[in-house]
Amino acid sequence: MMITSFICVFAVLINKVSLQETVEGVIGGSVLLPCSSTEHDQKLQDITVHWRHNGSKIVCDIIGGRHSESRDPDYKSRAETFPEEYARGNFFIRLSGLTHTDAGEFICLISHSSEQKTVRLIINGKQGRKIGSDVVTSSPLLWVYIVLSVVSIVLI
Ligand SMILES: *[C@@H]1O[C@H](CO)[C@@H](O)[C@H](O)[C@H]1NC(C)=O
Repeated sequence: MMITSFICVFAVLINKVSLQETVEGVIGGSVLLPCSSTEHDQKLQDITVHWRHNGSKIVCDIIGGRHSESRDPDYKSRAETFPEEYARGNFFIRLSGLTHTDAGEFICLISHSSEQKTVRLIINGKQGRKIGSDVVTSSPLLWVYIVLSVVSIVLI
């Protein structure tokens, strides 16, 4: 009983942490957008991964272990892929020359294993106003989960 509820709370906690990640960048800088699969033993030719920005813009497509050229021209020169990591289940990309419009949601769809990761990118401009308030709210939420899981373990 105790083990079951412990696992439940823990699963919620892990889900919360792994499903969405927040990355911060500055204008003109670069960021690494993380995305990794739980399956590590894929054949290179079976690997199909799609990176999308705000739901539609094609950041990059990895098809059959190679990146396809049909991507948004804006990202062509700014999104760097790391093919040597594909076999290990890592599909992170580096986005450079950041601008304000790069903010938002990046979705990494790992088609061959039906996994999907979301990375929220926050761009901190030099104009002063920080858009980082979401980052601050996300960590207290994490603490609520941790405290809740500890409390439930103690109570049971
Ligand atoms: C993506 O969405 C974010 C926030 O929702 C917005 O700030 C940004 O300008 C959008 N970028 C593009 C290219 O649509």
